[in-house]
Amino acid sequence: MTAMSITHEIQQNLVQPGMPGSLEALSGILQGLDGAALSPGEAIRDLLAAEWVLRMDRRLRACLKTSHLPGLKTLDSFDFTFQPSVSRGQILSLHELGFLERKENVIFLGPTGVGKTHLAISLAVEAARRGRRVFYSTLYELSQSWLEAERQGRLRERMNFLATASLLVVDEVGYLPISQSGTNLFFQLVNRRYERNSTLLTSNKSFRQWGEIFGDAAAAAAILDRLLHHCHLVQIAGNSYRLRGYADLEMPEDRPPVITPRRGRPRNPRPEEGVH
Ligand SMILES: Nc1ncnc2c1ncn2[C@@H]1O[C@H](COP(=O)(O)OP(=O)(O)O)[C@@H](O)[C@H]1O
Ligand SMILES: [Mg+2]
Repeated sequence: MTAMSITHEIQQNLVQPGMPGSLEALSGILQGLDGAALSPGEAIRDLLAAEWVLRMDRRLRACLKTSHLPGLKTLDSFDFTFQPSVSRGQILSLHELGFLERKENVIFLGPTGVGKTHLAISLAVEAARRGRRVFYSTLYELSQSWLEAERQGRLRERMNFLATASLLVVDEVGYLPISQSGTNLFFQLVNRRYERNSTLLTSNKSFRQWGEIFGDAAAAAAILDRLLHHCHLVQIAGNSYRLRGYADLEMPEDRPPVITPRRGRPRNPRPEEGVH
């Protein structure tokens, strides 16, 4: 059998089970073998690895489509030297995703612009790479989606979808308050996920301000009780990365945007109550 016909046979064997990654890498790998740049073992390894890489990439893309993530951020682009309050060791260890296996939660706390969303997305991307079902939403979008789902008579379905995601990222807890029914549903969601699936939250507010976010101190306490039981807390204190070119600029304290208050709610937290 000639080398050409063997190659043809290998190609057929890669097409039939659908191994396009290996197929694409094949001619380069054969050249490597011919020139003795690769040993037979290395060639087989590279052939299979090419397929694996392609599949992982497809899986990631599919997951990113359904995850609703607002962009692609990874740890490679996170500058730890800019944010010394972030422990590189803790973040790297979280990226090993043991917390997902153990159904533990992660909370990033800190003022705006310090990288909370960046790190949350980076963890979600890592989980997606490993084939986990990930879903991202801000707390406000979540509460809006419940209103919409209720209008369509699909609230139960929506709650089931959110409760069963392997990793649920709830970003921006604290920028906008949510309604009483939103608070009740969020409590139900946290309760259903407790010890079953991991939830990752980011917030610019200290826990004692969560009563204001949820409009109900008892509900906030019950939510925190479940979230914090098995939880990795990452507190980030530092300057906004977005404003890094403006070191000399006098910034006002970190405040959420001014919003129309609901009755009985403070307009904004007192300055000394921010997360520092
Ligand atoms: N330490 C960092 N290294 C690199 N980019 C960063 C860092 N911190 C923040 N960023 C970038 O700055 C922007 C704001 O960060 P973000 O994660 O949205 O902040 P937060 O959610 O805390 O308000 C994003 O584009 C993010 O990628
Ligand atoms: Mg953010």
